[in-house]
Amino acid sequence: MSQEISNLGEMEGEVYWPAPEVTAAAHVKEYEALYKQSLEDPEGFWAERAEELEWYEKWDEVLDDSDAPFFKWFVGGKTNIVHNALDRHLTTYRRNKLALIWIGEPGEHRTFSYFALNRNVSRFANVLKSMGVKKGDIVTIYLPRIPEQMFAMLACAKIGAAHSVVYGGFSVESLAERVEDAQSHVLITADGGWLRGKIVPLKDIADEAMARQPTIESCIVVRRTCQDVYMEPGRDYWYDDLVGLPIANTKCATEPMDAEDTLFVLYTSGTTGRPKGVVHTHGGYMVFTHTTLKYVFDIRDEDRWWCAADPGWITGHSYIVYGPLLLGATSFMYEGAPNYPYPNRWWQMIEKYGISILYTAPTAIRGLMRFGEAWPNRHDLSSLRLLGTVGEPINPEAWRWYHTVIGKERCPIMDTWWQTETGGFMITPLPITPLKPGSATRPFFGIEADVVDDDGQPVKEDEEGYLVIKTPWPGMLRTVYKDPDRYREQYWDKFETMYQTGDSARKDKDGYLWIIGRMDDVIKVSGYRLGTAEVESALVSHPDVSEAAAIGLPHELKGNAIHAYAILRDGLEGSDALAEELRNHVGHEIGPIAKPETITFVDTLPKTRSGKIMRRLLKARALGLPEGDISTLED
Ligand code: WTA
Repeated sequence: MSQEISNLGEMEGEVYWPAPEVTAAAHVKEYEALYKQSLEDPEGFWAERAEELEWYEKWDEVLDDSDAPFFKWFVGGKTNIVHNALDRHLTTYRRNKLALIWIGEPGEHRTFSYFALNRNVSRFANVLKSMGVKKGDIVTIYLPRIPEQMFAMLACAKIGAAHSVVYGGFSVESLAERVEDAQSHVLITADGGWLRGKIVPLKDIADEAMARQPTIESCIVVRRTCQDVYMEPGRDYWYDDLVGLPIANTKCATEPMDAEDTLFVLYTSGTTGRPKGVVHTHGGYMVFTHTTLKYVFDIRDEDRWWCAADPGWITGHSYIVYGPLLLGATSFMYEGAPNYPYPNRWWQMIEKYGISILYTAPTAIRGLMRFGEAWPNRHDLSSLRLLGTVGEPINPEAWRWYHTVIGKERCPIMDTWWQTETGGFMITPLPITPLKPGSATRPFFGIEADVVDDDGQPVKEDEEGYLVIKTPWPGMLRTVYKDPDRYREQYWDKFETMYQTGDSARKDKDGYLWIIGRMDDVIKVSGYRLGTAEVESALVSHPDVSEAAAIGLPHELKGNAIHAYAILRDGLEGSDALAEELRNHVGHEIGPIAKPETITFVDTLPKTRSGKIMRRLLKARALGLPEGDISTLED
């Protein structure tokens, strides 16, 4: 065993020290001094990082904080993230290096060198241009996990349009409201995607969403599952047909962009109301994803990196699409479910494709762990060098299984804490960091994180408080799309000069941060971010329901599960059949991941005198915990 569990050092608790060979080979060999330096001169630190990338024109100012909290980075600089993710590699040996290895759930594989990826992206970009897409537009992308998803995102960025990717597991209303908010004229979708041997009917869902939100003028349909789908004349076009046209040639100039121009909008659940469009930019986001991936996962040319997320979430944006390509890395992408057709699917692919880094979510680890060690043990996993997790706190039991059974006690686990809003890793180990199972350890360079009380004062060691970030960073969201007030309110109003993450955490004696969970009405279900408000509004959109409340309760596999309470319209009675119908209704509106675990029919819901549902109280009651302060409860 090269990593020792040690209580002999000065550190508290269960600590896994990095093996000397890991430290010796790591890109960053020392944390403390560089961290200190990065906080003393963050602008200097980030300017140096930005210089590792190419700019058409250099910036005049690294950070403009004159209009805080609307921070700007690399002001005056001109670049395009696609120039750094693709164009610049084409004049080096990387031109012929694999950018992407893709495996479909049914078993087919496709590979793309940087040269081939660039041809595909340019062709897609020309198709978009021919449909009138221009700088400043937002194109909505609703695809399964297939290479075209990457092509489409990069094609938008290349011509200066922003993308709004909607996760392929979302359904009608989720897609419709995102299309509406972005006012997209072009939608890119597919006939379907494969999941557990079944077709997810993306085009049917898209048709229903387009009927609700008629802003879409052109819909590009990628052929994937090949069943018959409805194609509306004059609106729907097969991608296969479009790329055969002369306009779809494989050369397309990359549009020079201001550092602060929007790269994408990604909708995510917040405390109240509808999902909000988190805005990220070409310059700062590029520097941040490049730096974080390089330092934390120590990406090397010979690596095969597998981020097992979906490009429809921020993890996929930053660490399937942009980060790895910026580094000229080889990425692996798999379309389907981890346990299909058998629970060894992932382990078999790691062996076959020689994956060296695996980055996934605790829920996936728990899900695979339940099938037992025999499945991974049938495979040679010795190509693995590093492991990672993201999305929710990892329970120490799952951490130890991942470390022992998958990493053979050789591979350090990078437990990365971050958010859609932060663009990239914020609190995370490096390969050289002594690890404690369940802790995301210490802040990344240039990031000042702390745990504070209601007044913004740091809490004592080991006490729970609000997790905040005290200084701006280049990958931060710039605003909420079309709603700057909401940006200010949600993230900056509570502590003024500190970014409020919405998470609670504690800090131990060694300065290690332990994330506890969301303090607001966001629920992380299997690592997916959902809001109680979305589930509630889906429920009340059913004709039988007059009021609804949703809460998250702990779940062994999913981390949290959604439980709902519904008040029915006058004269109606609850039944198992109706509960099932409501669950399916939520699935149809938002997506299968949002289906409540249980639906309880009630006559009243606990509310404050001002009419707000007291979810905290529902939760306490469901868990049999003390009800706490109920002085605001109406009679
Ligand atoms: C949670 C995902 C504990 C947290 C990248 C955060 C985590 C929310 C971790 C953001 C982690 C993410 N440990 N909790 N390593 N990583 N979270 O926007 O509650 O989908 O606020 O971004 O996930 O979810 P989002």
